[in-house]
Amino acid sequence: MRVVLRFDTDYQLEAETLAKSLQIPVVSSELHLRTGVDFELLLNHTGLSLSELPGKRDDSQPGKQKNKESNKVKTDIRCDFISGELRHRRLYGGGKNQMILKATGLNKHKPSIMDLTAGLGRDSYVLATAGARVTMFERQPVVAALLADGLRRLRSAGDEQELAIAQRLSLHKGDSLNCLPALAEREAADVIYLDPMFPERGKAAKVKKSMAFFHHLVGNDDDSAALLPLALATARYRVVVKRPRHAPPLADLKPSLCFEGKSTRFDVYPLKKMA
Ligand SMILES: C[S@@+](CC[C@H](N)C(=O)[O-])C[C@H]1O[C@@H](n2cnc3c(N)ncnc32)[C@H](O)[C@@H]1O
Repeated sequence: MRVVLRFDTDYQLEAETLAKSLQIPVVSSELHLRTGVDFELLLNHTGLSLSELPGKRDDSQPGKQKNKESNKVKTDIRCDFISGELRHRRLYGGGKNQMILKATGLNKHKPSIMDLTAGLGRDSYVLATAGARVTMFERQPVVAALLADGLRRLRSAGDEQELAIAQRLSLHKGDSLNCLPALAEREAADVIYLDPMFPERGKAAKVKKSMAFFHHLVGNDDDSAALLPLALATARYRVVVKRPRHAPPLADLKPSLCFEGKSTRFDVYPLKKMA
């Protein structure tokens, strides 16, 4: 998979530093983008975003003709904690009744949480908004860069509440399977939260294009079953796993408790009563 970084002229220094850390080339014009490149990162005044370039992934149905839309650059993804869906959820969302808060115990307590599969940090943000201190792990370097950019913008948003949420969020770039044992010796986690990728097939992949695009970047997290025993050996009070509603439990380990929504389920593995 090839990724390039394009930038607006005011951002040359930051772009070069980022490209060096990700070990990807910087390009100054779209003309460079046409051959052998799957994804383009763009750095400008709105922050960092990622687009998938045309023709690199065929998720159309067999025999179905591609329309003109498939030749355009697809929708971009970014980590956005200060506008759109997450802002709306923070201001007008379901409060303490949200399933993720009940599953993690945040409806009654203020546990510290480790999110071992942070992705673009949406779940971590919801947990931190409810008052949890959340340590996030993300191993896909481009996703981790998008997440770091989202956090940076949240910190500089200038709103006191947003600043307080940002201060409760920290990011470890790397594989939680490797980093957790050393970190857990210094810093215990009350709750460990897992949301590994789950293969999206058929209709679901067509409905959620941005999800399919994210999937192409990250892959299937085929080693995700190994996270559960590690989490169970590390968490103080409970482990929570987010799954698609009809998916089998992670590592085929039946949870003691489930919170089920329309498309998602939270499997809870309690270890000790939360104090
Ligand atoms: C489905 S996404 C998580 C979405 C996230 N819950 C959110 O709300 O944005 C799964 C993410 O976990 C990351 N991941 C999977 N296994 C990991 C591991 N062992 N260590 C760190 N990150 C991991 C993947 O790279 C991917 O970005």
